[in-house]
Formats: sequence, C-alpha cells, structure tokens
Amino acid sequence: MARVRLEPAGVDVEVEPGGRILDAVDARGDGKTVLPVRCRAANCATCLVRVRAGEALLAPPDAREFGVLNMVRATSDQRLGCQLRIVSDTGSEGDESAVVLSVVGPI
Ligand code: FES
Repeated sequence: MARVRLEPAGVDVEVEPGGRILDAVDARGDGKTVLPVRCRAANCATCLVRVRAGEALLAPPDAREFGVLNMVRATSDQRLGCQLRIVSDTGSEGDESAVVLSVVGPI
C-alpha cells in the first residue's frame, strides 16, 4: 500500500500497487471534494495536480495524458490526478510509501 496525501484538503488515501488514486478517492464516500474532476478520462485537465513527493511511486504519463499536459503547458511536476496509478509501494528516499499531491485547481 502507498499512502497518498491530497493537499490542501489534508486527506490521506491508501492505494494498492496497480491501483488508481481516483478510485481510492471515490471510495472515501464522504462527499468531500478533495480532487476536482470532470471527464475522468484525460480530456479536460480539471484534475491537474502538482506532485510534491513520491513521483517514483507513480506510473509515468501515457500518450493521452502527456498530450493534455502539453496542451495546458503543465510544468514538469504536474500530472492529471484522474490518471495517476501507483506502480510501487516502496520508494528510494525519505517516507518511502508517501505520495503528496497538491491540487492546482480547475483550469
Ligand atoms: S478529470 Fe478531466 S482530465 Fe482528469
């Protein structure tokens, strides 16, 4: 399991290797929006986040996500939150099981 913290809400979710972070966020079921989404399919960039820690635990962007990131001129530390998958639950430094994401906000 990897722990994923979503800021600024300060909410943590646990994600199995291979699991999608958005699924873990949805499973919380408290109705609180901690990751804004619209299309859920790498079309709109509503879910843009900054990866503040744990990049090595995330699957790299596929061609579709990469295209949207380029279209919105995302910085190198930004990803589409709806597309993020955990590939590993062990990192190489610091808190080895933590990903920290900052919601950039709907664009
Ligand atoms: S919700 Fe549209 S790209 Fe993620």
